[in-house]
Amino acid sequence: MPDRTYYITTPIYYVNDVPHIGHAYTTIAADVAARFKRLAGYDTFFLTGTDEHGINVERVAQRNGVTPQAWTDRVAAEFRTLWEVLNISHDDFIRTTEPRHERVAAGLFQTLYDKGDIYLGKYEGWYCASCESFYLESELGPDKTCPVHTGRKTEWTAEESYLFRLSKYQDWWLRYVAEHPGSIEPEARRNEVTSFVRSGLKDLSVSRSTFTWGVPVPFDRRHVIYVWIDALTNYISALGYPDGERFARFWPASVHLVGKEIVRFHAVYWPIMLHAAGIAVPEQTFAHGWLTFGGQRFSKSLGIVIDPAALAREIAAEAGVDVPIAVDALRYFLLREIPFGADGDFNKVALVHRFNADLANDYGNLLNRTIPQVERHFGGAVPAPGPSRGNDGLLRETAASVAEELDALITRLDFSRALGEIWRLLGVANKYLDEEAPWRSIKTDPERAGTALYNTLEAVRIATVLLSPWLPTATTRVWGQLGIGSPLSSQRLDDARRWGGLAPGTRVRPGPPIFPRIEKAKDGARSPGAVKVAADVAQRSKTEEPEGTRVDNSISIDEFRKLDIRVAEVLEAARVPNTDKLIEAKIDLGGEVRTIITGLVPQYQPEELVGKRIIVLANLEPRRVRGVDSHGMLLAAEWEGQVALLTVEKNAPKGARIT
Ligand code: MSP
Repeated sequence: MPDRTYYITTPIYYVNDVPHIGHAYTTIAADVAARFKRLAGYDTFFLTGTDEHGINVERVAQRNGVTPQAWTDRVAAEFRTLWEVLNISHDDFIRTTEPRHERVAAGLFQTLYDKGDIYLGKYEGWYCASCESFYLESELGPDKTCPVHTGRKTEWTAEESYLFRLSKYQDWWLRYVAEHPGSIEPEARRNEVTSFVRSGLKDLSVSRSTFTWGVPVPFDRRHVIYVWIDALTNYISALGYPDGERFARFWPASVHLVGKEIVRFHAVYWPIMLHAAGIAVPEQTFAHGWLTFGGQRFSKSLGIVIDPAALAREIAAEAGVDVPIAVDALRYFLLREIPFGADGDFNKVALVHRFNADLANDYGNLLNRTIPQVERHFGGAVPAPGPSRGNDGLLRETAASVAEELDALITRLDFSRALGEIWRLLGVANKYLDEEAPWRSIKTDPERAGTALYNTLEAVRIATVLLSPWLPTATTRVWGQLGIGSPLSSQRLDDARRWGGLAPGTRVRPGPPIFPRIEKAKDGARSPGAVKVAADVAQRSKTEEPEGTRVDNSISIDEFRKLDIRVAEVLEAARVPNTDKLIEAKIDLGGEVRTIITGLVPQYQPEELVGKRIIVLANLEPRRVRGVDSHGMLLAAEWEGQVALLTVEKNAPKGARIT
């Protein structure tokens, strides 16, 4: 068993709201950290769940004419389903209505009471029913509104209540945080809660007697435990506190990942309760920023809800990929675009841009530019590298330094920098491949071409292992195309640290492109959940992605050389059903048979094409047309409605390059 443990949690989500992209943001971040720590060899535990008690849930159930339990069962199931779609790898899902939780919440309450830290009193204050929280007058917005729920009035509430002696622990807390500054991150949040504590802690109301949907106070059944105290306990109840094996193994938590609005509960109240009960305090609370849409927080009441599953379906339809790949793109985008800790506005134009530029071009394309070469020139077997020279060393060193830095970056939850590092490796690999151009050197120096292909594929292997926490589906498919025998799931960070893990002779398995470019938002591909976002992309893609804006239309010889134009022979051709112009042609590129969809009707009929020697742009990105992968483009002259296919003057062999 590994000697290092990593226990990460998300907040447990309220069941009075539908799951939306804000919840997904936290959960995806926690999932990536958990997957990465598993990869790095930590004994890892990842917990999420639902917060099911409280007045708000009781009210929403009533409004819907069902019992609170029936309501929570329904919404908890929605969260679980969403986590499945988003490929979340939690080890446990805790619900606060489960007996295993209620037992622990009541037990901790009893312990604090027995120690004299909970007493019966009266609580008065400004109460926000949405937050289930009291606020100081100085914290309220205009007209005594809630500081979190803009515009929502707080109520002056006075009731008999059990109180927890928070004030008694103020000095302990200030000392503890001064000695353990890393226990609250980022620093701005630490400063914020520190000044809140310095301004004076008041004892905290920890029970309610005006409604019943909660865990009863064990020694006074007229009260239920305040929902926040109940909820925080989930982090230990899920581990089987006090005597569970998991508790001994994973507590204290490495990190409670939360949104910035609930840092006070996690970084002040929770550690004080634990300390008072004689339980070790968590190592860290990390508060990330808010995800907004058009500058506003997601909220059902404001009508701003993006359903991440609907969004993934929409991206999938636009890109012609399946939903798990679209989910990968969303996971990647959220953690690449916004530095973790800061606020960020969700924007689908930026998502499409990242999909095309980062995932399709920089990562996916690296595979498309190498695997076919291995197929064509090395019979599909990864060539053995020859002596090292030129930029081989730079590529190797970049891979080593990137793999070395990642664990520390993930410990700091610096996802965007971690991805930036992996992209540094992909950038060096792409440049290396451009410069080495094995498709050219194959003629003059096949050994060097083989070395360049080997090194590039080895960089792809390392990047793929490192990227697996963000892109669990895509990396598995890339791994499949690399043809490596042992599954990606068996790889460890150490495998990414070692250069040379790709065995020469490995048989590559070419497949369709994993991230085909999204050309533009297509009509009819929009699902209701993401409709606002779709409108945004349709409008902006027109203005932001102008085509043909080059001032000077000359290209360099190097740009021309990127075009892989070759002679091919048409083997079969047939009309694509229900289309006016399209022909599906099977062509032979000299040993490699491809399918190309081309719009030649009525100028050519399919049968005229069979047996013709034609010219094909072979390295055009594959596209899905009418459900068929079209890989390449037939070149033809076009004038005044006429079309003539290009051909070669002499009987050049299939596969011959046009230079
Ligand atoms: N039930 C409490 C948490 C108890 S934990 C012991 C709660 N639930 S919640 O459903 O309101 O979830 C809040 C959390 O969801 C935030 O702290 C954050 O992690 C995530 N987010 C919800 N909306 C979000 C955004 N718009 N942006 C970023 N995170 C968001 O509070």
